[in-house]
Amino acid sequence: MPPIAQDTFLHTLRAIVGDAHVLTEGDLSAWELDWRKRQRGKALAVVRPATTEEVAAVIKACVASGISVVPQGGNTGMVVGSTPDASGTQLVLSLTRMNKIRTLDAANLTVTVEAGCVLQTLQQACEAQGFLFPLSLAAEGSCTIGGNLGTNAGGTQVVRYGNTRELCLGLEVVTAQGEIWSGLTGLRKDNTGYDLRHLFIGSEGTLGVITAATMKMVPMPAAMLTAFASVPSLDAAVELLGLAHKTLSAGLTGFEVMGDFALSLVRKHFPQQHIPFDGEDPYCVVLEVSDHDSEAHARTLLETLLEEALQDGCVLDAVVAESLAQARALWHIRESIPLAQAQEGLNIKHDISIAVSRIPDFVRETDAQIAQAFPGARMVAYGHLGDGNLHYNVQAPEGSDAEAFLRDQEKPMNALVYDQVDRYNGSISAEHGIGSLKREKLAEHKSPVALGLMRSIKQALDPQNLMNPGRMLKP
Ligand code: FAD
Ligand code: MLT
Ligand code: ZN
Repeated sequence: MPPIAQDTFLHTLRAIVGDAHVLTEGDLSAWELDWRKRQRGKALAVVRPATTEEVAAVIKACVASGISVVPQGGNTGMVVGSTPDASGTQLVLSLTRMNKIRTLDAANLTVTVEAGCVLQTLQQACEAQGFLFPLSLAAEGSCTIGGNLGTNAGGTQVVRYGNTRELCLGLEVVTAQGEIWSGLTGLRKDNTGYDLRHLFIGSEGTLGVITAATMKMVPMPAAMLTAFASVPSLDAAVELLGLAHKTLSAGLTGFEVMGDFALSLVRKHFPQQHIPFDGEDPYCVVLEVSDHDSEAHARTLLETLLEEALQDGCVLDAVVAESLAQARALWHIRESIPLAQAQEGLNIKHDISIAVSRIPDFVRETDAQIAQAFPGARMVAYGHLGDGNLHYNVQAPEGSDAEAFLRDQEKPMNALVYDQVDRYNGSISAEHGIGSLKREKLAEHKSPVALGLMRSIKQALDPQNLMNPGRMLKP
């Protein structure tokens, strides 16, 4: 873009949102560098609108000048989808000033919230009114509901409440043309044609900008109890999951697995955390039961489950949290794994899903193949076993240069793992999305028919290819 045209464009942005909210100078790392520090981009500017009308005006200015837009929430995404490329021509549209909770409708069990609201703020607002907003992930202190919708985030309560998509009843969106679509109906039934909401959820900012959403809440359960158990194998963890479904039914709200090496990284980098058991067993599980009756009822169910599992041998040892603080501490161990992994150094992430029943065979087989092809590679396996979603991550061999390992081995490592995922009829991205990190892989692993339909949707909604171009779909 010629300098004069660029000045005119920035001047237009300043007129829309105010001088203070168009950032072009100083350290812009918070917006230009992704959470995993995989790629540093360069933004033309960071623009921070405060209202839906301002977002619409910004998008219209981008359309007029042919400027592409990268919507950004908390910038906690895992696949380099919310930061600009290195060209210096893309505008980062940060939604964080649009953070209001607009309405909470107790009778309708819904809350309408702006896209930039931090997930934890939304959880707390619902809790203050006696409701649970049942989306939970370790980044909840900084990720936003717009980013959660943009990625269709999963997290640790999907086994009971579903992904973000299942929690959304309506959206407000600024289209790629700068029009405002108001779809904040809060209706649970509405069969009036294509359900547009589902096009935007999980579209990673490639179709339009989500500015607000109407989300479901549930009444706060009378009790939530957490247990932490060590298990002799992944097969045993799957057996325990089956028992938990049978015993707890809809009361089972979380079921996470953690491999011994993943836990050892938490021990190493967060030694202040107390991890039950000594780390000699191959896997641990953290599970949560929610109960609308009473804590005593929940405890009886959980203890019945664990006693049966101990007798069966699918659990070796278990503790049940006695207080909220203890429950939080047990969950904190699980949530600290990605942070411990980041402390350990650059790593390769595989966010895969496979039918729960086939996960043990997948891991056995793939572990063996990796050990042979990449001697010393350290497997950091953990995740949402209740959803069949494993974070099958890889840390470079101990003492090696992680950057060099990624440069030389990431491609063949991904090829090995994703070919296995295909063999097991799984998905190469269960919950993190595609971004720019996985777009080549999407092109290889998604069917040509599905890719063709996706391209048609993109072309219809964003014919100028201004919305997060190069993310998800290859240009
Ligand atoms: P960003 O990172 O800013 O953006 C993510 C994508 O959404 C980008 O493509 C962006 O363009 C798009 N986007 C953002 N806002 C909008 C909008 N308003 N309109 C349209 N598009 C938009 N993810 C899980 O699914 N489950 C987990 O358990 C989980 N745990 C995590 C733990 C840690 C420690 C961290 C750092 C991340 C974790 N994540 C997890 C990944 C991440 O937090 C989620 O993907 C989250 O939903 C991203 O929200 P965000 O506001 O940070 O979005
Ligand atoms: C998690 O479940 O902890 C996340 O999705 C983050 C990660 O995979 O690193
Ligand atoms: Zn996850």
